[in-house]
Amino acid sequence: MQIKFEEVKADYQLGPIRTRNVIDDVSVHIESGTFTAVIGQTGAGKSSLLKLINGLLSPSTGLIQVGDIQLTRAPEKEQLNKVRKRVGMVFQFPENQLFAETVEADIAFGPRNFGFDQEQINRSVKESLDQVGLSSDILNRSPFSLSGGQQRRVALAGVLATKPDVLVLDEPGAGLDPEGKKQILSLIKQLNMKEHMTVLIVTHDMNDVAEYTDHVLIMEQGKVICHQATRSFFNQYQQLTDFGLDLPDVIYLQQQIEQKKGIKLPKVSLTKEELIDLLIEEQHL
Ligand SMILES: Nc1ncnc2c1ncn2[C@@H]1O[C@H](COP(=O)(O)OP(=O)(O)OP(=O)(O)O)[C@@H](O)[C@H]1O
Ligand SMILES: [Mg+2]
Repeated sequence: MQIKFEEVKADYQLGPIRTRNVIDDVSVHIESGTFTAVIGQTGAGKSSLLKLINGLLSPSTGLIQVGDIQLTRAPEKEQLNKVRKRVGMVFQFPENQLFAETVEADIAFGPRNFGFDQEQINRSVKESLDQVGLSSDILNRSPFSLSGGQQRRVALAGVLATKPDVLVLDEPGAGLDPEGKKQILSLIKQLNMKEHMTVLIVTHDMNDVAEYTDHVLIMEQGKVICHQATRSFFNQYQQLTDFGLDLPDVIYLQQQIEQKKGIKLPKVSLTKEELIDLLIEEQHL
């Protein structure tokens, strides 16, 4: 499902006053089936951008289209209901929102709320548990008895159980150990590849951007200052320093090899496997 922002501005109501535009004239087209990294400094508007996509925040001017759903300043209730069904939102530290006595009840909450019948609920609980790689043995356990990584997967399963076409996740790897983080990001990548879900994640980790995503969207003070395919973005890696971003480890490694061997490889590698293959192809290994 594609997402289009047309000249969107948005702010928040803070008591009697409105804030400055936290989203400031954003026009961007996110194609269906892409996996986009949303990056930028704290306060840049990343979370606000995600909230606009599922109608948690409404634009003050402009138009957002999610598939054929239209969101404007005063969106119709029907459009809001529709968009919340199509866009699954995974907040930061989603495990903090687990609440039910059992894993099953927690995952079933979303689909029940959306009016699925009992048979559909049972099926989607099972399917989503499978999608996040957890065994049905844990269905009757309390979510609070699980590890942090498992809890996060249960929280993700709860969103997947509502069968969204678009998945937006705010720092899905934050606070997990490296292995837990890798598992959750690989899982999200699989949903993108196999189920053709359109995915947006907020991340600060340039290694994850290189390894998992195919598009990069950089925000600064409410504006989108760069929206590019990940590969072409890293091909001009000088611009990373302009944006104050770190180089992914693999590109740093490639640079070191090139310098020490006095060579120039024909393209930038985004994963370690790619770098190894490239070195072999170019007969440097
Ligand atoms: N509920 C709110 N009420 C008022 N202002 C808000 C609210 N949420 C965010 N803001 C303001 O909007 C601006 C953008 O915030 P947002 O949370 O979108 O940034 P972010 O890029 O996600 O930052 P971070 O990396 O810290 O999560 C900030 O100036 C923030 O203070
Ligand atoms: Mg944020």
